[in-house]
Amino acid sequence: MARYAYVNGRYVPHDEGAVHIEDRGFQFADGVYEVIPIVDDCMIDAGPHLDRLDRSLSEMSITPPMSRKVLELVMDELIARNSVSDGLIYLQVTRGVAPRDHKFPKGIQPSIVMTTKRVKFLGQKKLSDGVKVITIPDIRWTRCDIKTVSLLPNCMGKTEAFEAGAYEAWQVDRDGYVTEGTSSNAWIVTADNKLLTRPATHDILRGITRQSLLRIAEEEGLSFEERAFTVEEARTAREAFVSSATSFVTPVVQVDDHVIANGNPGSLSCRLQGWYLDYCAGLKRSA
Ligand code: PDD
Repeated sequence: MARYAYVNGRYVPHDEGAVHIEDRGFQFADGVYEVIPIVDDCMIDAGPHLDRLDRSLSEMSITPPMSRKVLELVMDELIARNSVSDGLIYLQVTRGVAPRDHKFPKGIQPSIVMTTKRVKFLGQKKLSDGVKVITIPDIRWTRCDIKTVSLLPNCMGKTEAFEAGAYEAWQVDRDGYVTEGTSSNAWIVTADNKLLTRPATHDILRGITRQSLLRIAEEEGLSFEERAFTVEEARTAREAFVSSATSFVTPVVQVDDHVIANGNPGSLSCRLQGWYLDYCAGLKRSA
């Protein structure tokens, strides 16, 4: 079956999708993106993802390429054309094409690209068995709240994790506190059963999954706090997990060489995963 991409106003065969060599996304990583999961024919939290896209664009003074309404129509059309029931849609907006010059050019048209990918997230082994994470220094810039395509440090960290047999690398600030994963937010559960995740300042991406989980934690009456935790706290935590659009709630059973609790996914992590998946199913029912 043909797979399409959407590139600057046209649906093109995925393999033929291309942007100009002087696109500022290509030359300067001057662009932003979003990844929205699709579960059982339903986009999860599309509204909050598009709100964050608007914010990233605004923080970088990039003009939105189209209205929200049109963007949603294009997303629906691409998902339908590619028959994606489970997977993700990727959206990338760059400042556009201009002769190479560091200064932001005025009056150019932003570039927009969308692709989809089929992935059966539910039932993945990582969700039931949990994963290992390693810790690495956070070498990124100081505006990690903007979801830019400038992901080289994240790619380096993820590669290091992969080479160490781990799923994710938790980045650590200069004071020894975990910021977040290279493509996910980091969470632990303390000995007294309190859920901890770092506050959403400029140091981390305000994950959409994170936001939904905080809401669920509140609704379920869990004890939680948005505060930074150290590597030591992570290694000796009662439980740990990561959250993202593509990891959902993935339990962490090892941090560096330290096995978390008994090496099995923690009970609170599993319950949160269940509540989150119920929430996703509920979005479909109410669509
Ligand atoms: N990454 N932190 C970072 C650095 C991320 O790249 C992501 C998401 C998250 C979690 O955010 P959300 O819950 O909104 O997915 C946190 C996506 C999945 C990616 O780059 O593929």
